[in-house]
Amino acid sequence: MKHTILVTGGAGFIGSHLVEALGNKKTNTIIVFDNLSTGSLANIPNQENVVFVEGNVHSEEDIAHLFSNFQFDYIYHLAAIASVAESVNHPLATHQVNMDATIYLLEATRAQEKTVLKFVFASSAAVYGAEPTLPKTELSVIDPITPYGIDKYASEKYVTSYGRLYGLNVAVARFFNVYGPRQNPSSPYSGVLSILTEVAKQVKQGQEASFHVFGDGEQVRDFVFVNDIVQGLMLLGTKSGSQAEAFNIGSGEKHTLRDIITVYETLLETKIPLTYCEARTGDIKYSYASIEKIIQLGYKPTFTIHQGLEKYMADALVPMH
Ligand SMILES: NC(=O)c1ccc[n+]([C@@H]2O[C@H](COP(=O)([O-])OP(=O)(O)OC[C@H]3O[C@@H](n4cnc5c(N)ncnc54)[C@H](O)[C@@H]3O)[C@@H](O)[C@H]2O)c1
Repeated sequence: MKHTILVTGGAGFIGSHLVEALGNKKTNTIIVFDNLSTGSLANIPNQENVVFVEGNVHSEEDIAHLFSNFQFDYIYHLAAIASVAESVNHPLATHQVNMDATIYLLEATRAQEKTVLKFVFASSAAVYGAEPTLPKTELSVIDPITPYGIDKYASEKYVTSYGRLYGLNVAVARFFNVYGPRQNPSSPYSGVLSILTEVAKQVKQGQEASFHVFGDGEQVRDFVFVNDIVQGLMLLGTKSGSQAEAFNIGSGEKHTLRDIITVYETLLETKIPLTYCEARTGDIKYSYASIEKIIQLGYKPTFTIHQGLEKYMADALVPMH
């Protein structure tokens, strides 16, 4: 079967891995729609069946133009301003991208002639907020505490409502802490493991570097390797049991930051210099997922933290050309 698949945010960290996996099936045509604000062309796999369309998900005109050129079988909506801190600093601007754009896309999907086989929305564990009950199941209290989390949850509700009200085939993925190659370490708000990997790389190369630990390093997270996120997204795209439902995607493991630092030190066979700083206000101390619901769909995490970090580190150490 030939399928045309839209990946918004496909030039970004997670989106580019999804594009790569979807593009491996040569009968698929993948349309990457991205404004390159945090993503880059270099992330997009150089494959014949991958087409890049530059555009803004928050422009009704750009979306209309996109849908006038293509009819999609699958849509993975990952484009977002993925920085929680950015949403705190600019709630209105991030709201337009992180929520309004979701409705533009849903409307365009509803209006297209071809029935979409699945519209999958990339949400976040941020919807659970700071409520302390753990692990987080899809039935846990929802109490987002930042504009980012609020917009993710509002978007989720629009997506699932379009499923119920208009019969659109939809599903929602709630990612926990994703890590892996192509994650951008350059902003102070980047994912902690991208920053740690950058420091580890500098240490390995004999440069002077130190990793800043906020708080005591005992904060617990479910760090999930990007390939497992892709596995989960593809399951949500293809399994009927996902209809109009939200699913956690995590690794099923939980680790402290100090555990992670130890894994790096084992991999590098050297100590990573640490600088301890005060815990950041608003940081959640414990967050990890129950992944039972997506396991029922056939999900099976394939990377332990050790295997994932090993792959990430190996990739980071490949010299750039
Ligand atoms: N990385 C994580 O740990 C994590 C956790 C939970 C949820 N998520 C969600 O996963 C998705 C992908 O995140 P990521 O980590 O790959 O971030 P990323 O910043 O690498 O990717 C986002 C992509 O969206 C594009 N984009 C941003 N605004 C756009 C706009 N207005 N129009 C078109 N494209 C636009 C960017 O250029 C980028 O390529 C996001 O929706 C994010 O909120 C990520």
